[in-house]
Amino acid sequence: MRAPSLNSSYRPFWMPISESHSPGQSPPAATQPPSALARRFGGRSDVFSAMDRAKAAARRHHGQRLIDLSLGCTDQPPPLQVTAAIARTLEQRSSAAYCLHAATRPLRVRVAAWIQRRFAVAVDPDTQVLLLVGSQEGTAHFPLAVLEPGEHGLILDPGYPSHLGGLQLASARIQRLALDPEDGWRPPFASLSHGERESLRLMVFGFPHNPTATVGEQDWLDEAMAMARRHDILVAHDNPYVDLALDGEAPCLLRSPGWQERGIEFFSFSKSWCMGGFRIAFAVGATPLIQALQQVKGWIDFNQSLAVQAGAMVALDQLEDWPARLRSLYRRRRDHMVQALATAGWPVTPRPMALYLWDRLPRAAGAMDSLSFCLKLVQDTGVALTPGSGFGAAGRRHVRMALVAEEPHLTEAAQRVGAWLKTL
Ligand SMILES: Cc1ncc(COP(=O)(O)O)c(C=O)c1O
Repeated sequence: MRAPSLNSSYRPFWMPISESHSPGQSPPAATQPPSALARRFGGRSDVFSAMDRAKAAARRHHGQRLIDLSLGCTDQPPPLQVTAAIARTLEQRSSAAYCLHAATRPLRVRVAAWIQRRFAVAVDPDTQVLLLVGSQEGTAHFPLAVLEPGEHGLILDPGYPSHLGGLQLASARIQRLALDPEDGWRPPFASLSHGERESLRLMVFGFPHNPTATVGEQDWLDEAMAMARRHDILVAHDNPYVDLALDGEAPCLLRSPGWQERGIEFFSFSKSWCMGGFRIAFAVGATPLIQALQQVKGWIDFNQSLAVQAGAMVALDQLEDWPARLRSLYRRRRDHMVQALATAGWPVTPRPMALYLWDRLPRAAGAMDSLSFCLKLVQDTGVALTPGSGFGAAGRRHVRMALVAEEPHLTEAAQRVGAWLKTL
């Protein structure tokens, strides 16, 4: 069959710009995908792909000198006991087989025991726990499981991109609740009108909060849950940073009354045990919500390999206190970077959550928004930060720094940024 003749500027929506033209040719102008997908993802922020391209260019230009503080992906290795357990289990043939839900029971039992020890909450491993391929996967698929197209879902602005993406995948109507630095980034649930509350079907958010590095309070979740009970709303709480509150205890939805009827909480091995690349996480929540998500996932994936699950069991069973060492590491790095930036002429306020700094653009940025600032910064200095606008319009004058490099690199990054700011 003859291939359809394509307009020379045509680029299939699935093809990255860099792959859709021959070497030597300049890339064609990006075309809008002519499908329903285009409408559903209309308005999708392209901040992360713009940064990705800028980082690739900066890597060519600056080589090894690129300092990438733009991803919340730790530079720390997972615990040795975890990788040893994975390696041992890899030798068993079953670790290469598809893993059906029933075979995940040993890990679900460990999850229930960890929840009991950690939060003093009893959960049923058979009906209230589900394995995930990352909490990102869970939050992205959950709206598909519980929303009809056109139903209303609420996210925070700024907020984690999969919260928005999940609602878009489910063709939901999206309500953004803007957070205000003057209010300590507390979600202003009380600002929602009665009509808005009545029309909401789902809220997706999480504290400790990426990107603002706000730990949040249990009260905030209690308030959300009380509103959800009054207005028949579901609450999905994304909690991969539960172990990364530097000061005090992180909030947890399972401690808020009502979760057994309308709540689901997403936990992850990525941040607490540095297992991000292994892609393993779990949801704990109301039985009907767990069942609905399990059904969606049944069409989409099998569970993680039993080898990865073996590593996860070791983390929960034997290494509950391991994340404490991350907290002291990130606290040292935070204090070091705050000091280095201050010396470089950019005063940044320390945040109470590990892993990130988040602050307003420096005065020298003038009228630049966060994307232009970060694009120019990485191009000129080889230091990559994350534009706050990648997390929503409310972040357009903010920038996030992930503390995922050793202290000498942080010093170097701060010095380069400081020298560059003087040239603006
Ligand atoms: C709020 C939030 N949820 C989910 C994730 C991804 O976690 P996982 O690796 O478990 O998918 C991240 C990663 O940065 C995050 O910040």
